Amino acid sequence: MYWTTKHVLVCNASHCTQKGANDVAMQLRREVLKRGLDDSIFVNTCGTIDLCDIGPNIVVYPDNVIYSGVTKNDVKALVDALVEDETLDRLKLDPQTPAEANRHAFYAEAVHPEPSRPAPEAVALAAKHGLDDAWLAEQQRRGFIARKPATDETPETISVTKKARARYGV
Ligand code: FES
Repeated sequence: MYWTTKHVLVCNASHCTQKGANDVAMQLRREVLKRGLDDSIFVNTCGTIDLCDIGPNIVVYPDNVIYSGVTKNDVKALVDALVEDETLDRLKLDPQTPAEANRHAFYAEAVHPEPSRPAPEAVALAAKHGLDDAWLAEQQRRGFIARKPATDETPETISVTKKARARYGV
């Protein structure tokens, strides 16, 4: 059914999949079918939405709501919320959610005075905002930061990319 009232997209790119996204998607489809809601709620999978460290992530349209850290145990409550046209606040990601606020704070600080700095400084700045080396590596894979190797004259640097500046409005 394409002309449903809600479209639920479960990210099943690699990181979300490693944390159970396909099970979440399967359970969601089952729950929707079990309740006879498949003419109003369409569940599908999608590629990364660049929140890989806090998945499994789900986007609901037309609500424009992102849920993060969703597990199979959340499925019934999630479908309840969809039916009631409400949001499930305990899973909803918004700018005040610590995970989102921390990364925004990191990027806001990392672009000043310039978007590029020696790698140890960037690592320390990330740590200040509760973000570790694995997070930085993930951001690099996603194209939010770029590393420039050290040369004889300059140290290794980490730069905030245009993609990150656009994503975080910094
Ligand atoms: S793997 Fe799901 S947001 Fe990136």
